[in-house]
Amino acid sequence: MRKTVIFLLVVALGLESSSSDHHQPYRTAFHFQPPQNWMNDPNGPMYYNGVYHNFYQHNPKGPLFSNQMHWAHSVSYDLINWIHLDLAITPTEHFDINSCWSGSATILPGNKPVMLYTGIDSQFRQVQNLAVPKDLSDPYLREWVKYTGNPIISLPDGIQPDDFRDPTTTWIAEDGKWRTIVGSQKDKTGIAFLYHSDDFINWTRSDSPLHMVEDTGIWECPDFFPVWIDSTNGVDTSVTASNEHVMFVLKMGLLDHSKDYYLIGNYDYEKELYVPQNDLTLSTLRYDYGKYYGSKSFFDPVKNRRILMAWVNESDSEADTIAKGWAGIQSFPRSIWLDKDQKQLMQWPIEEIEMLFKNEVSSHNMKLEGGSLHEVQGITASQADVRIAFNLTNLEEAEILGENWIDPQVVCSEKDASYRGKFGAFGLLALASHDLTEQTAIFFRVFQNNGRFVVIMCSDQSRSSTKNGIDKMSFGAFVDINPQQEEISLRTLIDHSIVESFGGGGKTCITARVYPTLAIGEEARLFAFNNGTESVVISKLSAWSVKKAQMNVEETIGCADQ
Ligand code: FRU
Repeated sequence: MRKTVIFLLVVALGLESSSSDHHQPYRTAFHFQPPQNWMNDPNGPMYYNGVYHNFYQHNPKGPLFSNQMHWAHSVSYDLINWIHLDLAITPTEHFDINSCWSGSATILPGNKPVMLYTGIDSQFRQVQNLAVPKDLSDPYLREWVKYTGNPIISLPDGIQPDDFRDPTTTWIAEDGKWRTIVGSQKDKTGIAFLYHSDDFINWTRSDSPLHMVEDTGIWECPDFFPVWIDSTNGVDTSVTASNEHVMFVLKMGLLDHSKDYYLIGNYDYEKELYVPQNDLTLSTLRYDYGKYYGSKSFFDPVKNRRILMAWVNESDSEADTIAKGWAGIQSFPRSIWLDKDQKQLMQWPIEEIEMLFKNEVSSHNMKLEGGSLHEVQGITASQADVRIAFNLTNLEEAEILGENWIDPQVVCSEKDASYRGKFGAFGLLALASHDLTEQTAIFFRVFQNNGRFVVIMCSDQSRSSTKNGIDKMSFGAFVDINPQQEEISLRTLIDHSIVESFGGGGKTCITARVYPTLAIGEEARLFAFNNGTESVVISKLSAWSVKKAQMNVEETIGCADQ
């Protein structure tokens, strides 16, 4: 019998034909990016009825940021392979005619997703708007309808029209009221304004903000969510504040520094007060000490985890960005949870990456003498996941950390990978050319200071490309581990033009963008190295080639006869 079935045909878009295409050597294989043009912040990530949604800030007309920003939309069943859909929210109404900026998703009781987003209105004021899916029976929620009564939150008196944006995922407290925060500033004091609502339509600003800190400038893309103090699982954003087993994370993007900082603390919804453990300063914790901004997290009920994704901007020149025709990629999704000591978050690439693994190579207990290299062969070095752990003995030989070296960023900039200390530099050379002219070094240095050991992790881009005119700044951060008691571990995801590294099992993360001209595609190589004068032991090294994900496949609906 002949029957007609509906099938979904997925067609790869032209630009995606090959990630190692020599005309597009910087396109990624497993990091999310749109088919073309500009992308920045992830918006409203959520899981709904079997599908993960990834909306993002997008200029559909060109590779640079524009004054007509849209919400683009992709969906996935596994957070790895993505289907490209039509634009979801576009500037059309008086309340968003000059751009639809970042925002967040909330799943309301009755399994109803809603979006809050910032619109730039006809008078160039930033206001907060509501949108809902047109048809909840559409599995991809392709079309979104804006509430006609928008804006639901107007610009507060005394706030500059361009200083009020990025509403968070809302949460409901024991009093049954919904709450959200909106990023702002007044006279350089960064502010998270707190709003509450009974019906999601009428919103009232609380007398005092959830939090504010002088001299930090505007807070963009705030995020506010609970974390278990005794579990690595994720917590739904609406878990009650009085639950003794949670603490709360407040993340703010400081525009003046283009960096995402976060605080860990306690939240009392009755007093409408957030009390962080630490003050916000420029040495406060960051999700990532490299390029990583506009991040947003969401609770994934499928695997009971909280997932974090962020925008990783280009370091390339504007002219080369225009020539490439695209800009911006997303960090690989990370699971995040509170560390046992409750002082920082832990981050780890989601396990789904293993779907793309092939060709595992591994070795154990390999001594790396000072000044030596070990090539990791048998994998695709331009698309790889590498895990390495180092054991150090004779630590009493470690150098003393000088007083002018208390800023790890300075240590990493002044002493690049070629500088020979005692313990360090040792780590990985990613995207290296055969003669090492090009290399991105991710490495550690170990010092002692007043009887304690200090581990610094660096990502050195200074030799990452023979090209000029790109930002090759080095990045650095402390890793809060004791190398006398534990190995120093590093995991690095390498994907053509992004090198995303996790030190100390996810305590310290550094993401870099690089544009090799020699170490591209099959020419790229990977090494473990030790440039210190003391030897180190690689206790374990495992590396995998990572296959190309189906990125930006376009979905068309057709009929077939069987
Ligand atoms: C952060 C940001 C947000 C804003 C969006 C505009 O990168 O500036 O504050 O909503 O990007 O694209």
